[in-house]
Amino acid sequence: MHQSAIRHHSFGEPLEVLQLEQIPRPDPEPGEVRVQLEAATINPSDSGMIGGSYGRLRELPAVAGREGVGVVEKLGTGVSGVALGTRVRFPGEEGAWQEFACAAASDLLVVPEAVPIEQAAISFINPPTAYCLLQKTVALAAGDWLVQNAGNSALGLCVIQMAKAFGYKSISQVRRPELVEPLKAMGADRVVLEGSGWAKNISEMTGGAPVKLALNSIGGRSAIDQIKALGAGGTQVTFGGMVSDKVRFPTRFLIFNNVRLVGFWWDQYARREGSEGVRRVMDQVYAMMADGRLKLPIEGVYPFRQYKAAIEHDRQPRLGKILLKP
Ligand SMILES: NC(=O)c1ccc[n+]([C@@H]2O[C@H](COP(=O)([O-])OP(=O)(O)OC[C@H]3O[C@@H](n4cnc5c(N)ncnc54)[C@H](OP(=O)(O)O)[C@@H]3O)[C@@H](O)[C@H]2O)c1
Repeated sequence: MHQSAIRHHSFGEPLEVLQLEQIPRPDPEPGEVRVQLEAATINPSDSGMIGGSYGRLRELPAVAGREGVGVVEKLGTGVSGVALGTRVRFPGEEGAWQEFACAAASDLLVVPEAVPIEQAAISFINPPTAYCLLQKTVALAAGDWLVQNAGNSALGLCVIQMAKAFGYKSISQVRRPELVEPLKAMGADRVVLEGSGWAKNISEMTGGAPVKLALNSIGGRSAIDQIKALGAGGTQVTFGGMVSDKVRFPTRFLIFNNVRLVGFWWDQYARREGSEGVRRVMDQVYAMMADGRLKLPIEGVYPFRQYKAAIEHDRQPRLGKILLKP
């Protein structure tokens, strides 16, 4: 038996190195289950993994993709306590852009039934990262201000909605004026345009309150603006670098404002905290997805055979994730 998989045999530009191939369908070993993919996500880190620049790479040839949701459709011998049809995270270690993968029954991350399937497909990377950025990096209290760039990214939309749920005030930077109203409708307190000089008016925007946290997934000029907007003792967390320029930090803000610059990587958090720690974060994410406090837009859904169109769409200006379905 075979299955479709989107694979690459060398590291490089995704549209050049990816291929839709037929590969053997795996059978579950004793103690394992086989999961059938329902929907997978396209994330910026996929390009890093396919291109060879990410913090962790797969052996070649590799199935691409890091995030997806599926259902348990076959049990290996000796597996009990897992029902066929249970919705779980697609075993992502071997690549999520394939129809079937096996995992130890004890390692499954089960998705509650109340979470809609397309929300489940995008629940495993950005929402827990946003949750940790807001709850595990600095101690914020209700009414505290934070600033972020890429406000319209999936992660940015999680930050907006979670900040609202926790009572924090958010300022989101975007590159396109047409995003201002949609982000406000999702709960953003302020939306500012990249390069507009907004950092100079920060105290008008916050009513004089200091900005305690800056979330940087872009780098370049926008990272510098954030450092200037932070209050004394504030923290900037860098967790992405959509602009690959090196960030030149403004020295005087580190000295006279005692600003802290730190990083965050969800993969490392998950490895350190183990499945129990991941489960605790996911319980919080799913509680917010189930009652509608967290809802992320989906901008397009493509079958595997149209993966090139899906990747091209992902590179266009958008407000929502692109999904792949077998
Ligand atoms: N460290 C971690 O553990 C971790 C976990 C999850 C995500 N991340 C990072 O978080 C970021 C967002 O991920 P996502 O999946 O939410 O992204 P996404 O939904 O695919 O959105 C991408 C965002 O990047 C912006 N962008 C792209 N190129 C840009 C540029 N040159 N200058 C300014 N903005 C640019 C886009 O703005 P436009 O709409 O204007 O193009 C959009 O807001 C990525 O950097 C990702 O790697 C890190």
